[in-house]
Amino acid sequence: MVSAVAAHLLFFIVSVNLIPTTPIVEEQPFQAADRGVGSALGKSRKRVFPVPHTEEPDPISEAYGYCNTPNRTEQAWEGHSPADYKLLSAQVMIRHGDRYPLYSIPKTKRPAIDCTLSTSRKPSHPLLNAFISHMDLGGRGHWESPLSSIPRLPNHSACEMGELTQTGVVQHLRNGQLLHQAYKRHNLLPSNWLPRHVWVETTGKSRTLQSGLAFLYGFSPDFDWTKLTVRHQWSTLFCGSACDCPARNRYLEEEQRRQYRLRVSDTELERTYVDMARTLGLLTRQLRAANPIDSLLCRLCHGISFPCVPMGEGGTKACLTMAQFAVIRRQQLDDEVDRRRVGLYHKYAILAMYPYLNRTATKMERVARDNEAGRQPRAGGEEVFTLSSAHDVTMIPLLSALGLEEARFPRFAARVVFELWKSPKVIQGQPKKRASKGEKSKVKDGELFIRVLYNGEDVTFHTTFCRSHDRRASQPLCPLKNFLSFVRRDMFSLVNATSYQEACFRRPG
Ligand SMILES: *[C@@H]1O[C@H](CO)[C@@H](O)[C@H](O)[C@H]1NC(C)=O
Ligand SMILES: *[C@@H]1O[C@H](CO)[C@@H](O)[C@H](O)[C@H]1NC(C)=O
Ligand SMILES: *[C@@H]1O[C@H](CO)[C@@H](O)[C@H](O)[C@H]1NC(C)=O
Ligand SMILES: *[C@@H]1O[C@H](CO)[C@@H](O)[C@H](O)[C@H]1NC(C)=O
Repeated sequence: MVSAVAAHLLFFIVSVNLIPTTPIVEEQPFQAADRGVGSALGKSRKRVFPVPHTEEPDPISEAYGYCNTPNRTEQAWEGHSPADYKLLSAQVMIRHGDRYPLYSIPKTKRPAIDCTLSTSRKPSHPLLNAFISHMDLGGRGHWESPLSSIPRLPNHSACEMGELTQTGVVQHLRNGQLLHQAYKRHNLLPSNWLPRHVWVETTGKSRTLQSGLAFLYGFSPDFDWTKLTVRHQWSTLFCGSACDCPARNRYLEEEQRRQYRLRVSDTELERTYVDMARTLGLLTRQLRAANPIDSLLCRLCHGISFPCVPMGEGGTKACLTMAQFAVIRRQQLDDEVDRRRVGLYHKYAILAMYPYLNRTATKMERVARDNEAGRQPRAGGEEVFTLSSAHDVTMIPLLSALGLEEARFPRFAARVVFELWKSPKVIQGQPKKRASKGEKSKVKDGELFIRVLYNGEDVTFHTTFCRSHDRRASQPLCPLKNFLSFVRRDMFSLVNATSYQEACFRRPG
């Protein structure tokens, strides 16, 4: 495994309080959900897997990668396949784009960021004005409650906590446009698509709803609102009606104890918090509770200097420093390594993401059946495009469950894409001994394949279910059946079970 080689230089960062204790909570104040950091090591910025490196990772340049500033063109490998293969469906999970902090640091000024949208502000996008006008017509769409009462655009001149920024909107307009380009020649979605072709779902936060709409607009500009239903996922795990899983919660609680122990044993981290609290005139525990990394990251992403407070007489100031920021980030890196070593999170992730993966697999099977040779496709066809607008606390377990634990922490507007492909039909020659029965040759239907992409990079052959597939053989892609047997059975072997039911409800012993 790659991890054995690279275990000491992993860049995937998760902090002590990253994980929600139950699927109901979303990014609660004491949880640093969303605030992790990842990505980008100088030139290797675009790679989603850290390149093995002999140096310690640089926490600051990685933080810039996490920002995902939309200021350069991006390479996207979505839609790539051998010639003549047909793209049957794409299922996309996104993390919301750049947002205002969820926490503020007491005694300091909140970063001044304008969350209204304007093409005169950077970063902008050619579709921005058309997007704003189109959102005005959103009342024509169908919204599962409580989504209809959520604003469809960020619109506060002083951003509210957790509000999507213009940067976040632009990130997803770009994402949608990238996939539009990637899938255009495959005719995945006709421009006059029908309600049944598209499935859009989001959690009930304005930043996920708005991110999803920006993505959809980039993907299908000027889409017909009357065909769109936006569905609500109440849990950040997108587990629908299958969220009850006591064993998952037990793994999570153990994992949180591990994180806590690692954190309190880090004397440099403790000292840094004490220093930062003293600078600001706070109690150390007040500062901790205020989750300073979240606010500092936002400032870093927006080019706003770290907060200062007046110090004594004479107008001198004391400020939080980049060095302190780097210490917190370094500890997050260490935590990530430890997390992977211990493996509790991976078990949590398997159970957390089974319902979503099961749904993904089922959709693929349905679309595949609809495309069987000789079958009359159903009127209206099947869902060919699915968009799930989610959080870091959704995408981190998804990556882990797929065996992509080495992948970088999901940056703002990160995306995971599942593509379903079919190879061309094969006309098979008649076997010799039956040649007398007729001259007809048999048509063998094409075979089905899956591709998984993370931030535009093909990671299929890093997943647990296709890591050992020999792609130099006649099959250059990963067979869908690998994914299906992984989801329906094999993934539970890690928790010594053969089904979700068994894994969730077996008595601890
Ligand atoms: C894009 O923005 C990032 C972070 O703000 C910066 O480090 C990088 O140099 C910029 N890249 C370009 C091409 O301007
Ligand atoms: C944004 O808010 C302003 C002031 O409240 C309002 O005039 C404007 O119509 C709003 N725009 C949108 C697109 O909601
Ligand atoms: C998994 O998907 C199947 C359909 O393929 C469905 O019948 C079953 O209820 C799903 N299980 C869970 C736990 O979501
Ligand atoms: C796995 O489960 C079986 C039966 O459910 C049990 O007998 C066995 O001891 C378990 N093994 C481990 C390592 O937990």
